[in-house]
Amino acid sequence: MIILVTGGAGFIGANFLDHYVPRLPEHRFVNIDKLTYAANLGSLAAISGRDNYVFRRVDIADAAAVDAAFDEFKPDVVIHFAAESHVDRSIAGPREFVRTNIEGTFNLLESCRRIWPGGTGLFHHVSTDEVYGSLGDEGMFTETTRYDPSSPYSASKAASDHLVRAYHRTFGLPVKLTNCSNNYGPLQFPEKLIPLMISNALDGKPLPVYGQGTNVRDWLYVQDHCEAIWTVVEHGRVGETYNIGGNNEVRNIEVVKNLCRILAEETGKDVAPLEGLITYVKDRPGHDLRYAIDATKIRTELGWSPKETFATGLRKTVRWYLDNRAWVDSVRTGAYRQWIEHNYERR
Ligand code: NAD
Ligand code: TYD
Repeated sequence: MIILVTGGAGFIGANFLDHYVPRLPEHRFVNIDKLTYAANLGSLAAISGRDNYVFRRVDIADAAAVDAAFDEFKPDVVIHFAAESHVDRSIAGPREFVRTNIEGTFNLLESCRRIWPGGTGLFHHVSTDEVYGSLGDEGMFTETTRYDPSSPYSASKAASDHLVRAYHRTFGLPVKLTNCSNNYGPLQFPEKLIPLMISNALDGKPLPVYGQGTNVRDWLYVQDHCEAIWTVVEHGRVGETYNIGGNNEVRNIEVVKNLCRILAEETGKDVAPLEGLITYVKDRPGHDLRYAIDATKIRTELGWSPKETFATGLRKTVRWYLDNRAWVDSVRTGAYRQWIEHNYERR
């Protein structure tokens, strides 16, 4: 099979490709990615020379470029990771979110419709639990929870989810959707809570906690998310949505304190100075209070469940950032951006 992955140089896409490209030599993986600030081809160094992997720099908001990639590779399956993904950036500048997340998804759906006649192919849409909005103290999101997005990011993902379902109902396009909770793990850009706190703590910089730190997220280790996606691609029912979550609700302040403790243990330092870096800052506008996923459907129907606990996953993540300071430094200094410009801008 030819599996076209979008956004494979980002956090989850790179974890997915690094894991599956070597393990599934019978499939050919095509990675199309615009290489925004969030991408890093260095994350794919281990697979970049493999026979069953190819990369093309493509902006999914460019319909002609998407069409050309589909004509060149004629994929059997599309796994759509590419997105602008950071809530705070969507507040600072929503336009790219509409462009990539909505128009980009639309372009991909159109290309799929063009090359897949009569119900062939599979479009797997990778989405988020943030489309459901905010929970109070009780309850969990299920696949039938009403959409109620709060941020430009989640609104753009909600719009893309609706387009994907509409293409299934109207044109018979074979689609599957997964809506997942907050991911963490190796290769995550240090703007999201967990990698930001790790790298700031290592640099002795403040650890900015929004509001009172009482907002709750359901954290899932990225590899568990990747395995859930592949399980749905292989065994999920066409036209269905599966919620993916870790059953692991933690308040932000507890996440940050846990990180301080693990960092102290792993580096042999005292925890008090690290915790002393915690700084309460102005809350995010429209900040969702609580996310919690009911993952009963994927668990009972497809037998998926997470392998990592928060304790094991968080320690692996801290270790990865400690062992890969060069990756973090290159992302932060923009050295890898220069590399991309040097290698790709002039082609
Ligand atoms: P990321 O920001 O780390 O990576 C996004 C990737 O998409 C980057 O490689 C970027 O270059 C690429 N991209 C952006 N705009 C593009 C465009 N116009 N054309 C082609 N490529 C483009 O994101 P992530 O955390 O890896 O998230 C991947 C997907 O998973 C997203 O769809 C996101 O909504 C979803 N998701 C993320 C989480 C999470 O916690 N990170 C949770 C649930 C769902
Ligand atoms: P984030 O990692 O941005 O993911 P999302 O907003 O998609 O859930 O944020 C996770 C939680 O951490 C969220 O409640 C906002 C909070 N947060 C902070 O308190 N400080 C920060 O610097 C960041 C980036 C997030």
